[in-house]
Amino acid sequence: MRRLFPVTDMTATAPDREWSLDELADAYAYPAEAASGPWLRANMVSSLDGAGQHDGRSQPLSSDTDMRIFGTLRALADVVVVGAETVRLEGYRPARAREAFAARRAAAGQGPAPVIAVVTASLDLDFSLPLFTSPLVPTLVLTGAEAPADRVAAARAAGAEVLVAGEGRGVEPERAVALLAERGLRRQLTEGGPRLLGQFVAAGVLDELCLSLSPTMTAGGAQRIAGGPSVAVPQRFAVASLLEQDGFLFTRYRRI
Ligand SMILES: NC(=O)c1ccc[n+]([C@@H]2O[C@H](COP(=O)([O-])OP(=O)(O)OC[C@H]3O[C@@H](n4cnc5c(N)ncnc54)[C@H](OP(=O)(O)O)[C@@H]3O)[C@@H](O)[C@H]2O)c1
Repeated sequence: MRRLFPVTDMTATAPDREWSLDELADAYAYPAEAASGPWLRANMVSSLDGAGQHDGRSQPLSSDTDMRIFGTLRALADVVVVGAETVRLEGYRPARAREAFAARRAAAGQGPAPVIAVVTASLDLDFSLPLFTSPLVPTLVLTGAEAPADRVAAARAAGAEVLVAGEGRGVEPERAVALLAERGLRRQLTEGGPRLLGQFVAAGVLDELCLSLSPTMTAGGAQRIAGGPSVAVPQRFAVASLLEQDGFLFTRYRRI
């Protein structure tokens, strides 16, 4: 892997080699702002022509290095916020405790693995899955006040903690971010999907985007990485870092 930005780090001897997980964790450390309030970053992969999925999965767009960064971002987070459709389609499993990050997490006052928080209105989820029955830390289910009572009961019976973050059926994105932060989960990571990410963008609560640009073209009608109604004025982001490996560009953008 090579660092292309900040350019001050690019010397003639800049090594093109596999980075250690420690180096990646340093490169993706949460900013100082996360010490006092929520910091929401998203991690998404996109093809060159803007697809956020292929055949309903993101895996065909990804690479080994992309998955190392995906794992590193998880390891740095207090909470991983994910939409229910991504859980259903991608077969989400609980986050693992990883030896490589254990000391770093302990020093940061974090438990062994991030909490997974599933955003859902229907709670139409398979609560017999390990994500709900055997995570290291109980999985959170974020929903609205009018969520179906029987499904809420099923989630709780499986061991999940159900949090209300909206007055109607659904979750209000800014309320979800604030609620998680109130629980001390300030280093927030969302892994999408596009419908959820679009709502975070529209609500103006997305602070950072770690976008892996995959050197692939897919054509077709796949979702982009953020969907839903467009914002009135495009939000501006500034590049914070740029890494390259095997034609993949691992970008990191901060909202200005
Ligand atoms: N490119 C990438 O990096 C990436 C990342 C993640 C996923 N993906 C791909 O994206 C696809 C899935 O994404 P998606 O956009 O269709 O779905 P999604 O955002 O993962 O999930 C949508 C679901 O989340 C729940 N939800 C969303 N907003 C909500 C709100 N405000 N309140 C309550 N619940 C809410 C609803 O669940 P209920 O229906 O249960 O109410 C909704 O049906 C898959 O193909 C996946 O492979 C790509």
